[in-house]
Amino acid sequence: MGKILVTGGTGYIGAHTVVELQNNGYEVVIIDNLSNSDIKILTQIETITGKKPGFVKLDLRDKSLIIEFLKEHTDISGVIHFAASKSVSESVKNPLLYYDNNISTLVNLLNSLSDKQVNFVFSSSCTVYGEPDILPVTEQAEIKKAESPYGNTKQIGEEILKETANATDNLKVIALRYFNPVGAHQSALIGELPNGVPQNLVPFITQTAIGKREQLTVFGDKFDTPDGSCIRDFIHVVDLAKAHVAAIKRMEAKQMAAAYEVFNVGTGNGYSVLELIHTFEKVTGKQLNYRIGPPRDGDIVKIWGDVSLAEKELSWKAENDLTSMLSSAWAWENYINNNPLN
Ligand code: NAD
Ligand code: WQD
Repeated sequence: MGKILVTGGTGYIGAHTVVELQNNGYEVVIIDNLSNSDIKILTQIETITGKKPGFVKLDLRDKSLIIEFLKEHTDISGVIHFAASKSVSESVKNPLLYYDNNISTLVNLLNSLSDKQVNFVFSSSCTVYGEPDILPVTEQAEIKKAESPYGNTKQIGEEILKETANATDNLKVIALRYFNPVGAHQSALIGELPNGVPQNLVPFITQTAIGKREQLTVFGDKFDTPDGSCIRDFIHVVDLAKAHVAAIKRMEAKQMAAAYEVFNVGTGNGYSVLELIHTFEKVTGKQLNYRIGPPRDGDIVKIWGDVSLAEKELSWKAENDLTSMLSSAWAWENYINNNPLN
């Protein structure tokens, strides 16, 4: 087994994936510029796995630094590329920041790796589907015009990778289209660390329940869904992390059907925002202070994935239910409230 480079490995999904890689015997080295994560996550990973991953603080926008890094780490056989900016609203306000941090970084990385045989996993998103015409959405569904510069960076990223993998024998790529990752590791030692006011539903719920936020606003309850609120395919972050290990193993075993493959990674189940809130209340025994507000601009009404391709080809399946997602998110919120990292 070669060494796996995990970019963005101190971030939310990255840290959980590093844990799963190390638990599967992989040696890991992380690159992260710590723009949206904390160095202390490395100690948390060490407590969980018994091993501190390698770490280099580096900004992927600087190609010369990546080249230097690769001279020091000649034994890298796989790359999992999480590093990116991920705020939809920030991307609308500052598109160039997103094209620079999500596209330039990818191009820099691919250029620097071009003379190596490498297996590459890319963090894509169900955001590439926009509002799907048919549910559950399959990998063959039409890619709609992106709703935001952030969404566009995922579409462009996929194109760049597909074209590059098809043009060279050196690169194999699996793009994983994540649905909505939520929850935290069962140890409650790592989890999502939103910067400022959370934009995503679950951290907003847990921060409201613990008293950091006064009230959650549900963005609309008059949509064409059973209870009127939007529907998403929420997936436990540990299940998502395991899909990355499965992708690396598929590439190592040379099981790929083509140089570029794409898989939906979700549970295949859709839950509404109100269902999620009520499950959270049941799981925690806490009444959540929420109100119904107007819809949020650009929101998809309903989406959930057809995940049969990933289940078949990656021999992987999401195992955790909504209760486990929400109880782990709540345990993490309590942990981080009592043990702030900084
Ligand atoms: P995150 O912000 O927690 O992690 C990203 C990490 O990348 C951070 O640690 C950050 O410091 C680092 N980083 C950013 N720019 C960098 C740069 N130029 N050089 C080096 N490091 C850099 O985000 P996450 O939720 O873990 O998301 C990981 C990936 O998954 C991203 O590509 C994101 O777009 C994608 N994704 C996330 C979601 C989600 O809901 N969280 C859904 C679909 C796809
Ligand atoms: C989920 C549902 C909201 C907050 C975003 C990105 C997407 C992907 C994941 C990376 C929606 C509702 C939310 C709140 C609410 N990221 N909500 N009150 O919108 O599915 O996807 O993150 O690729 O690209 O767009 O996730 O968690 O923001 O919202 O009612 O305070 O919760 O309207 O229906 P979303 P989310």
